[in-house]
Amino acid sequence: MTTILAIETSCDETAAAIISDGRTIHANIVASQIDLHAQYGGVFPEVASRAHTESISAVVGQAMDEADLEYSQLDAIAVTQGPGLVGSLLVGVGFAKGLALATGLPLLGINHLEGHVYSQWLADGFCEPAFPIIAMIVSGGHSELLLMRGHGRYQRLGGTIDDAAGEAFDKVGRTLGLPFPGGPAIEKAAQCGNASAYAFPRAKTDSAYDVSFSGLKTAVMRAVTLQPKDRSHRQRRAENHAQLRDDVHIPDVAAAFQAAATDTLVNAAYCGARDHAASALFVSGGVSANKLLRDKLRDRLELPIHTPPLFLCSDNAAMIGAAAHFRYLAGLRSRLDIEARARWMLSEDVYAAG
Ligand code: KG4
Ligand code: ZN
Repeated sequence: MTTILAIETSCDETAAAIISDGRTIHANIVASQIDLHAQYGGVFPEVASRAHTESISAVVGQAMDEADLEYSQLDAIAVTQGPGLVGSLLVGVGFAKGLALATGLPLLGINHLEGHVYSQWLADGFCEPAFPIIAMIVSGGHSELLLMRGHGRYQRLGGTIDDAAGEAFDKVGRTLGLPFPGGPAIEKAAQCGNASAYAFPRAKTDSAYDVSFSGLKTAVMRAVTLQPKDRSHRQRRAENHAQLRDDVHIPDVAAAFQAAATDTLVNAAYCGARDHAASALFVSGGVSANKLLRDKLRDRLELPIHTPPLFLCSDNAAMIGAAAHFRYLAGLRSRLDIEARARWMLSEDVYAAG
């Protein structure tokens, strides 16, 4: 049995988990900073890294207590090495290096996106499909479409050419005055909205595997906010944010936006699966919690669709531990001088790249 302590601090969640064999969760602690960032309507990097520094020690301690394990019972320490906010990553990477040095345990630097892919292995009853698998990662920072050829082996098919899917949900949520993060708030508001009330665009990209949300976001802004010609100069100066038109029915806008955003993602996933004889589709990351997205994928694609349990869609350390397990089995270990990597694409051989 392989038991790994995993640490995740790439964005606004300070998380630690203890995982056995890449499948069994002994502890999964997530200290969310959502309340801290809500006042800014998005993640404030400096505030995030300071909050990680304040809570990392307690979060790791809590995970060890909950799992009721000593460090001597662990096989390795895994940490998200990138991609992400560099100040946030540095906190986790520094802490993990210190622990590895103090305990003598091997260190494993893990790609955050690979963690999202491996969140599937933590679902109840998950049975590993044959490779290749299409993996779609849709979160606040990323929208990636990958062909997974084996453990640690990826080919990037496409991704967003501008905003990430979750970023678009967050920005539209902010325009509509909904609470942060926008994704869950838009999904909730859309429940009593009419998706046909607005005809928002589904962007066409040069590659069928790429997605784009910036035009959609602008179309929503134009439709729902007072445009300069509608407002007096004084009114514009008095406002530092766009003002919603009086006739806007927020549930309708939310439903129409959600319909367009999910259509865009479903189309890219469909093309990837169609062209690469994939045996299954993995969808993960915060936006994979969206029920409409899950339903549409199941309707349109004729292959098994795997989604993580809702509590593992957004950032967590359990998924980092699951990814680390396969890296550990492959005999890979990271050096103690690894550095945080703000940018790190999943490549043909992420094991070699790490
Ligand atoms: O994976 P995640 O926790 O963090 C990143 O790695 O970015 O994803 C957070 C993103 C946010 O943009 C949030 O608005 C979005 O996931 N999200 C959703 C839903 N739940 C979270 N988007 C659409 N529908 C949801 N139900
Ligand atoms: Zn993430």
